[in-house]
Amino acid sequence: MDLHDYKDVAENYDRYLEVMYQTENNYDGFIQFYTELAKRYGAGGIIDIACGTGAVALGLAEQGIIADASDLSEEMCNVARKKAQDKGYKLRIFRGDMTTFDAGRTYSLAIIARSGFMHLPTPEIQRAALLNIRSRLCDGGILTLNTFDPLPSFQAEQMKNSDEDHEFRLEYINADGNREKIYTALSYDPVSQILKGSWKFETLDEKGNVIAERIRPLTMRQTYRQEMKWLIELCGFEIEALYSGYKFKPADELTPSDLVWVLKKV
Ligand SMILES: C[S@@+](CC[C@H](N)C(=O)[O-])C[C@H]1O[C@@H](n2cnc3c(N)ncnc32)[C@H](O)[C@@H]1O
Repeated sequence: MDLHDYKDVAENYDRYLEVMYQTENNYDGFIQFYTELAKRYGAGGIIDIACGTGAVALGLAEQGIIADASDLSEEMCNVARKKAQDKGYKLRIFRGDMTTFDAGRTYSLAIIARSGFMHLPTPEIQRAALLNIRSRLCDGGILTLNTFDPLPSFQAEQMKNSDEDHEFRLEYINADGNREKIYTALSYDPVSQILKGSWKFETLDEKGNVIAERIRPLTMRQTYRQEMKWLIELCGFEIEALYSGYKFKPADELTPSDLVWVLKKV
């Protein structure tokens, strides 16, 4: 299955994220954070890049702020479009690769929310994405994205795993009303800085018997903070702000963190 083939998960994505975020990093306050950025920087247009099922674009629309949205996966776009339609929001949602998309207009604020940027698997592709997005921003435009500071203790543990050592992660009810168990297997390669593995979905009947199984591969690149700083400069941005989490708390140089970068086109 292609890494970006979200066909099998798009319909279920919001359902299992809801369960996952009850116990794991839940990006607390992220919609309020992007709403504030939209008010500060969005007067020249906003785009939610790698929008997935539209969490940010729809969250903004609920606050009366209209943004375009784009994702590599047509299936994810379809779910986002359906949600927008159900709520009566007229949003422009289009399929696009962030390394090449051209919406035929510029924006003053581009948002890559949650793990969108980390899905870019090499420095070359990260660079292509930043350069393309820069060319879609107006002068002085803002791009925000996030990264997690890599933690060597986690990486050391992940290096012992194979990308088929599945561990139970959560159980949820899928779009067909069936119980589904999700298992993840993650292994880390320190040379490519790639966290590689897969998500296994087991569908259960009422008695708990497994009636179907599917596996979806995952590849996410871990990018060091200093590496990001060089990449940002190389691609013609400067750091407007660097936050730890979504409450506008400035990131401290010494504490590993869930970093939220606010970058300005220079
Ligand atoms: C974890 S989801 C995040 C979705 C959304 N931003 C959110 O907060 O729910 C990552 C998304 O990135 C998209 N993606 C991955 N590579 C991409 C690329 N090169 N261009 C555009 N979207 C991409 C995937 O299709 C997926 O929907």
